Amino acid sequence: MPATLKFLRALSDPTRLRIVALLEKEELSVNELQEITRLGQSRISTHLGLLQDAALVKSRREGKRTFYKLDSGASGPEAEIIRLAIGGAKELPEHTGDQINLRRVLNRRHEQAQVYFNQVAGRFDRVYGPGRSWQAFGHLLLRILPPLVVADLGAGEGLLSELLARRCKKVIAVDNSERMVAFGVTKARKNNLKNLEFRLGDLQNPPIEPVSVDLVILSQALHHAEEPASALGSAFKLLKPGGQIMILDLARHQFEKAHELYGDRWLGFAESDLHCWLEQAGFKKIEINVVAREEQPPHFETVLAGAEKE
Ligand SMILES: C[S@@+](CC[C@H](N)C(=O)[O-])C[C@H]1O[C@@H](n2cnc3c(N)ncnc32)[C@H](O)[C@@H]1O
Repeated sequence: MPATLKFLRALSDPTRLRIVALLEKEELSVNELQEITRLGQSRISTHLGLLQDAALVKSRREGKRTFYKLDSGASGPEAEIIRLAIGGAKELPEHTGDQINLRRVLNRRHEQAQVYFNQVAGRFDRVYGPGRSWQAFGHLLLRILPPLVVADLGAGEGLLSELLARRCKKVIAVDNSERMVAFGVTKARKNNLKNLEFRLGDLQNPPIEPVSVDLVILSQALHHAEEPASALGSAFKLLKPGGQIMILDLARHQFEKAHELYGDRWLGFAESDLHCWLEQAGFKKIEINVVAREEQPPHFETVLAGAEKE
């Protein structure tokens, strides 16, 4: 059949006119069209097939569902005929009901998202959300970091160092475990991170030039140091003027088994102790907060302490 006749024939049926009038405004699935028009699924599918054949409607797949929309590509006399047909659909007795049902279906779509977010509000940080992770947030925050020279002391195999190296000018990762350093070196090489250098050494006397770094990080490392106060004194010496120290550690706790289980020298630190040692080392603008609390016993709390060398 010639295309024009196909086109006219497709628009000559009242049910198809109802569907065209609905798809002019919104992209809808067969289920939604069924709910709006109260027609059977196979009838709707047949009509949609004819409309697609006549290039009046286009479809888009999303997972297992297909959505249909009026093809807005028509121009000239065809566009005029579609406009007239949609005008004609308003004269059909089902038109008002269709429009009311359309609004209901669209409201429900909107509400479904709202119901979910209303349910999880207040605990959104603890529920799974596709694509949301602290790792992803970490990458986002890294993008706003200037190109610093960083010393990561007690770096382990370099989980944090690696992240930082993707953005920073240079990262020097210090650890006193030969195996950790060996793992870190291999991984950095594998990931082609040429600005990440591992050094074997003690965080209380790091093998780094004095006054050479912009940022010192001690992430879950200070509670392993024999003398935490002197470790902070050493960190101060590494920093350039205006440089910063960031310490992530456990808040003081009573979980004695941490000595045996994790090789911890200290059972976390009181915020007041950290404050006092930072001050003694010469740091200014000291800021200390508890930034995380674990849900499971023994409910370890993480303290973030930051300060500046003026
Ligand atoms: C709990 S891990 C933390 C690793 C890493 N900073 C992180 O947050 O993922 C502690 C690391 O500190 C290292 N460490 C312990 N005492 C140290 C010391 N005196 N000097 C340097 N590194 C030390 C350990 O070998 C271990 O790799």
